[in-house]
Amino acid sequence: MSEKIILDVDTGSDDAVAIMTAILSPDIDLVAICTVAGNKDVEKTTENTLRVVETLGADVPVYKGVARPLVKELTPRVPATHRSNTVVDGRIVNVHEDYLDLPPATIKVQDTPAAAFYVDYLRGAPEPVTLVPVGPLTNLALALLMDASIVRNIKRIVIMGGGREVANATPAAEFNVWADAEAAAWVLQSGADILWVPLDATHAAYLTKDDCERLRAINTLESNFAADLVEQRIVVHDARQPLSVRFSAAVHDALAVCAVIDESVLRDVRCVHMDIGLSDYAEGQTIVDPRHEPGPINCSFAFDGDPVRFADMLCEIFTRA
Ligand code: BDR
Ligand code: CA
Repeated sequence: MSEKIILDVDTGSDDAVAIMTAILSPDIDLVAICTVAGNKDVEKTTENTLRVVETLGADVPVYKGVARPLVKELTPRVPATHRSNTVVDGRIVNVHEDYLDLPPATIKVQDTPAAAFYVDYLRGAPEPVTLVPVGPLTNLALALLMDASIVRNIKRIVIMGGGREVANATPAAEFNVWADAEAAAWVLQSGADILWVPLDATHAAYLTKDDCERLRAINTLESNFAADLVEQRIVVHDARQPLSVRFSAAVHDALAVCAVIDESVLRDVRCVHMDIGLSDYAEGQTIVDPRHEPGPINCSFAFDGDPVRFADMLCEIFTRA
């Protein structure tokens, strides 16, 4: 039976691959997509999300989420890595362009804001549902603040975010958690069953140029667009954040969706105690308790990922579609 999920995205190149994977996989029943500010402002992440949904002809409602983090902007914080343009061979390449290279959307968002949708849907859900936030956790934190009892109808939260040995926003923090650290902390303490798909896993489960060729060989609109996005990410990774293998890229958010379908795409998943740093240089840090006698277990964390399984899964999913 397919797994009911709600995606929460800040689309975004890797979010776009994640959305396509969720729409195309027969193992996923995509109930709804919520949008949030993150990679771009919420107007752009919402427009990009609608473009993907409409291009794929999917019948999935999109709920627009919040434009700002819960409290972060009220106090000055440690600045993130400057997301300047990457110039390669005289050409500007960004890991996330403002708008995805798809026709402008004509479909519209739902009237209900994303956080209110979570509350309404989860209060009345016939069965617990899996949530897959792959952007900042603001919508979900807000929903849990509105009604903490909705946690009863959350089967699991599979979060793309955090990092133990790898960071990308500040020396200590991954972008999604850093972008709204209080929201992440609120979700973490909700009591829900949480699996983190952090940078440690997404950087290990890289995609290569050969994987892009495999996607191109499928030769559908979706597989070619996915290959375009992954190639764009490879150019930027190679220039600014090289992985263990040359000409490869992390496609973070799609790995989280694949982990819902088959958790063996992650490696070394352990139950841990985690806290989230909220200030100074620890802002947005996912602090996995390394002590011999750690605090109480409050989540699972993937310390590694499987690049071969990830590429095979994407190729299977895009082929079957
Ligand atoms: C995360 O940050 C965003 O830029 C990506 O879409 C991904 O969700 C990786 O740190
Ligand atoms: Ca994202």
